[in-house]
Amino acid sequence: MSAKHKKIKVLDLFSGCGGLSFGFESVGFEIVAGIDNWDDALKTFQENHKNAKAFNLDLGNPDINKIKKDIGSVDVVVGGPPCQGFSISGNRDLNDPRNSLYKGFVKIVKAFNPKVFVLENVPNLVSIGEGKIKSEIIKDFEKLGYEVKYKVLLASDYGVPQNRKRVIFVGVKEKNNFVFPETLFSNNKDKVTTADAISDLPDKDLEDGTLLVKKPLSKYQKNMRAINSKIYNHKITSHDQKTIDIISLVPDGGNYKDLPEKYKNSRKVNIAWTRFNSTKPSPTIDTGHRHHFHYKYNRVPTVRESARLQSFPDGFIFLGSKTSQYKQVGNAVPPLLAEAIGKNILKLFN
Ligand SMILES: C[S@@+](CC[C@H](N)C(=O)[O-])C[C@H]1O[C@@H](n2cnc3c(N)ncnc32)[C@H](O)[C@@H]1O
Repeated sequence: MSAKHKKIKVLDLFSGCGGLSFGFESVGFEIVAGIDNWDDALKTFQENHKNAKAFNLDLGNPDINKIKKDIGSVDVVVGGPPCQGFSISGNRDLNDPRNSLYKGFVKIVKAFNPKVFVLENVPNLVSIGEGKIKSEIIKDFEKLGYEVKYKVLLASDYGVPQNRKRVIFVGVKEKNNFVFPETLFSNNKDKVTTADAISDLPDKDLEDGTLLVKKPLSKYQKNMRAINSKIYNHKITSHDQKTIDIISLVPDGGNYKDLPEKYKNSRKVNIAWTRFNSTKPSPTIDTGHRHHFHYKYNRVPTVRESARLQSFPDGFIFLGSKTSQYKQVGNAVPPLLAEAIGKNILKLFN
């Protein structure tokens, strides 16, 4: 392989099942390794990134020398460290054990010294403490010689049928010429809807590996099926009769506010009894809390339906228990959002 065609190597920290990796791989990066401390997610990661290594390690206390020895050099480090230790007031005590994961990310970037790093996280990281946390993060990486840019991106602007927001920090050694991707679908009426995403999936269990005979009903469904028209992870959750009776009272796109008084406060969360709106992208997919229901059927979405809403193609198979699969899907960076970011990172290497 000529130097021109040499793939850019990526290390994924806190990789989970590999949503971020999958998007990067799809646009031409080589995923060298994923590190996480969750076995099920790593099995899924390995299943869908056959050429990468998967390491089960505690990134709160990384043995940097061993990691470097096992992985070698990389060009890009990506990852979304859980940041529970950053308080609403903007104070952050780096000795707080809950900050050890963020510190682990910084230590690994320092040790690998990649040209680029990408740090993904929940959007309120930018606003908490009037932006103090965000500025501290930027400073930490500036000390390592990176120029850092950040932006909150909305997944549905990039073809994902979901209004999920994530903040993305991109650091480049010395001069940062990275440009955040332009929105592809900024007009609400052009966005991919939940119906575009899942209307071809039936209201019944499918044995893993079932071939979908029904033709795709949208361009999005066609794309999701491109690699594999066999369906996995489509097991219907059966609810108790009371749940079915209550959710059947909520219309397409409605929520607890549409319920009669006696049920309105039956669940004490503001996202309770939400039915997806078939004509809009879905709200942020959760990790299996059972508050979001199918726009048409009286049940929560299956793992495969949730995966479609996260833009995982049907060929991406989730392993582990059903509960674990929901969590893996809900935790992930939507691959199409990762693709959009990855495409512009690739330009930094040309
Ligand atoms: C938000 S998820 C990452 C999702 C992933 N980027 C994707 O796109 O699929 C965060 C991950 O951090 C992992 N994690 C939490 N604590 C960890 C630790 N101490 N060491 C390694 N990984 C950890 C979790 O298991 C979880 O998979």
